[in-house]
Amino acid sequence: MIDRRGVLKGAAAAAALPLLGAATAADSLAAVAASKGLRFGSTVGGKNFEDPAYRALNVAQCGLIVPENAMKWVALRPDAKSFDFRAADAIVRWAVDNRMGVRGHTLLWHSPQWMPDWVTRHDYGAQPAREAARLLADHVGTVAARYAGVIDSFDVVNEAVDSDTGGLRETALSKAMGAENAIDLAFRTARQAAPGAQLVYNDYMSWQDDGGKHRDGVLRLLEALKKRGTPVDALGVQGHLGSKYSDTPTGLGSLDVRAWRRFLDDATGMGLDLLVTELDVHDNPLPADFAVRDKLVADHTRAYLDLMLSYPQLKTIMCWGLSDKYSWLQGLRPRPDGLPKRPLPFDADFAPKPMRDAIAAAIKAAAPR
Ligand code: XIL
Repeated sequence: MIDRRGVLKGAAAAAALPLLGAATAADSLAAVAASKGLRFGSTVGGKNFEDPAYRALNVAQCGLIVPENAMKWVALRPDAKSFDFRAADAIVRWAVDNRMGVRGHTLLWHSPQWMPDWVTRHDYGAQPAREAARLLADHVGTVAARYAGVIDSFDVVNEAVDSDTGGLRETALSKAMGAENAIDLAFRTARQAAPGAQLVYNDYMSWQDDGGKHRDGVLRLLEALKKRGTPVDALGVQGHLGSKYSDTPTGLGSLDVRAWRRFLDDATGMGLDLLVTELDVHDNPLPADFAVRDKLVADHTRAYLDLMLSYPQLKTIMCWGLSDKYSWLQGLRPRPDGLPKRPLPFDADFAPKPMRDAIAAAIKAAAPR
């Protein structure tokens, strides 16, 4: 079992320094962000969390940590009855010990592909809606309550909108109880179990010109949540840049910046805060040469963050990893030339890249929060 008192004691100490970790370097991304009232962080877990040098890089650069996989259903739930918190607790304890804040990801990944198989095989009995609601509320309530007071921001629902159609996805839970009901229940249960935490809807809608259906679908969902009084506080914009076009020779894709601004205007117009939760750049179609590629990735990042930071509602920027060595993108659709990808602010040897300077420069140029 987690020593909640120990964790909470550390969290109370962290509260005095909410934006900076204990070992954060003075010119770190976290420090630059803190000087503007922003939080900067990244994700850890699995193999990369076992690397002491990588942990040190995170402590040096981050004010905020999110477990990459350890808080997902697939990691926490071996079956319908039990929870395995060991991996998640280890990350939370390490973050708290190093005076970093923690985000939770994700209480409900509303996408069938990413839920454990047993959720589909589960016997929902004669009253499936009731059993699905029980299972979901039990999961969200247990996880949110365990980390309440330590985690101050949860991705409550992740990727509920089908990016091709804009409609809500179907999962075993939503088939039993309805997608709206499942999403509502997740937010309401999270609010009850962790009343002080920011509750986020998180998704990968983008500024690409073919992203209209996804953006519209997310706005429809957020409007419906607001109308029903569902407690959602913020929109998490994942920020996996370039991903849709990563196998085409068109550079990083063609953008529709006006549509993206309209989308962000509409979301913030509902009173929602914004977070960039999973920033990285899928560089498949970019030239092989590292210097050329790194500059294009940095320029793209800078343009994106300048736009995002023009919204005062944006107070958190998270990269999905700090070093190219451990990016999830390395395992996803290899580059045609077989070279490693360079999607993150530090290279495989943990040396800073132009993307790191682009993030710092964008934050320095932003208005204080
Ligand atoms: C990814 C992890 O990085 C991988 O290790 C895992 O195999 C799949 O999930 N959107 C999200 C994140 O919300 O949870 C995903 O993380 C990346 C896309």
